[in-house]
Formats: sequence, C-alpha cells, structure tokens
Amino acid sequence: MYQTVLTDLENGILTITINRPEKLNALNKTVLNDLEQVMQTVYDEKAIKAVIITGQGNKAFVAGADIAEFMEVSDDGGEELARKGQQIFFKIENCTKPVVAAVNGFALGGGCELAMSCHFRLASDNAKFGQPEVNLGLIPGYGGTQRLTMLVGKGKAMEMMMTGNMIDADEAKELGLVNHVTSVENLFEKTREIIKLILTKSPVAISKVIAAVNASFDNSTNGFEKEVRLFGEAFSSQDKKEGTAAFIEKRKPLFTGN
Ligand code: COA
Repeated sequence: MYQTVLTDLENGILTITINRPEKLNALNKTVLNDLEQVMQTVYDEKAIKAVIITGQGNKAFVAGADIAEFMEVSDDGGEELARKGQQIFFKIENCTKPVVAAVNGFALGGGCELAMSCHFRLASDNAKFGQPEVNLGLIPGYGGTQRLTMLVGKGKAMEMMMTGNMIDADEAKELGLVNHVTSVENLFEKTREIIKLILTKSPVAISKVIAAVNASFDNSTNGFEKEVRLFGEAFSSQDKKEGTAAFIEKRKPLFTGN
C-alpha cells in the first residue's frame, strides 16, 4: 500500500517504520506522502489506538530531509516544501491518539523534527540528535525552530541550530528532548510498555490531554481556557462515569472511549 513506510498493527499499536535504510531513511516526497496517508488512516481507523514511529535498520531513525531532492526544487520552491512538511507534522502532533517516536539512530534535521512532532520520544543509546541545516546554508523548516525551543529551551536550541552539532541520547534525555534511553535491544519493548499503560486509561481523557498540552504552545489559543473547556467535555463523558464509579467500587475501570 505504501512505497516507503512499513506498517504493523499489533494489539491496537500501529508501528510505522520509515523504510529507506540505504539513504538513512531520509524524507523524500514519497516518504512524506506515505506518512501523510498513513496518519490519515490512524485518524480514521478505530482499530488503531496508538502509534510508534521509527526508522528501518540499526543506523538511523531519519537522517533528515532528502538533500538530493533539494537539487530538483527551484529557488522559489522552498516555502512550499516547508509548508507541506509542517502540515504533515501538525497532523502527527494533533493526532487524538498517542504517537510516540522510538529513535533508533540518527535523528537529524527533518528526522529530529519528525521525532519532535510526536507526543514524546524514547531513544536507544546509539541515537544522535541534531539540526545540521546551517551546514547546508539552511534553517530547519519542518517546525524545528519552534519545537526544539519548546523542548530544550532557547539557549540550547540556539546553540544546536547555530553550530549544527549533534548531541547523544544521554544529553538529549538531560535536556528533555527524550524521556527514556534504552539499549538498542530494549527500545521497542520499553516503548510498548509505556503505550500499553496509556491504553489502559480513558481514550477520551488521553485525547484531551494531548489537545490541552498542545494548546500551551499555540499562541493563538488561551491554554488555560482550553483546559477548562476540555475538562468540561471530559466531565460529561461515559469514561469519566466509569472511572469515578470504578474508584468508588474499588475495581479496575473499563474504558470505552465514549
Ligand atoms: N538526504 C539524502 N541522502 C542522505 C541523507 C539525507 N539527509 N543522509 C544520508 N544520506 C545518504 C547518503 O548520501 C548515502 O547515500 P549513498 O550511499 O548513495 O552515497 C547514504 O545515505 C549513507 O549515508 P553516509 O553519509 O554514507 O553515512 P555516514 O555514516 O558516513 O554518515 C551521517 C551518516 C548521518 C552523518 C551523514 O549521512 C549525514 O550527515 N547526513 C545528512 C544529515 C543532514 O544534514 N540532515 C539534514 C538535512 S536538511
């Protein structure tokens, strides 16, 4: 169905693997189109409850936008390129189901930006993160200037984007760019373990956590006001009735997502 991504659905968790290992999974047009389509399926398909995004092979998550493809784009085509990438990454960021990046190697440029558009990130201990666009006379264009600054703070984001230097998984964890660092072998087990825990909670509540947290980074929205509204919506859900009843009755809740 897709040319450059592999998908595998197991127990409601869809693993999306960017599959161009010979080019370190660089994001060309086909990969971006495939990603957009697969994310639409995530939105539409009830059987999909959560998503893991990763890269094929043991070397790279994604080593950036496809630099060779830049040669084919005219001087005035840059804006469209960035807008298209941003649009797809917004689709990931605003997904109502949890989307987690399992970073298994280089996450550079557009790869770091892809990981940052996910709700949170785990990394294997061989992972490397960076925004090396300045080496090409460019700046990040898929949201990196904004999301890296949100995640690691202005000073460190400025340094990473101005030097183009990579950081390793441990430093990424120290900075809050990734939540957990594992061995290469344990990356997926740990990622699934966290997602499985999330999937025992109310899907209604999880989707509203995502929307409310995202609102705190949206200048056009009053995040506190949005939280009030989302709390109000959650308050009238079946899941809230079930969750509160289960607590009082000293049993485990059975959430339906309604
Ligand atoms: N776009 C297109 N092709 C890429 C790529 C990218 N972003 N990153 C890697 N590749 C390709 C290489 O051209 C090479 O292809 P080839 O075998 O046909 O020559 C292949 O992937 C393997 O990469 P290579 O550079 O040989 O591996 P390495 O181990 O020597 O170096 C990196 C790994 C990640 C340090 C290096 O590939 C790199 O710097 N990539 C670009 C990172 C970047 O600037 N990303 C931001 C883009 S905006």
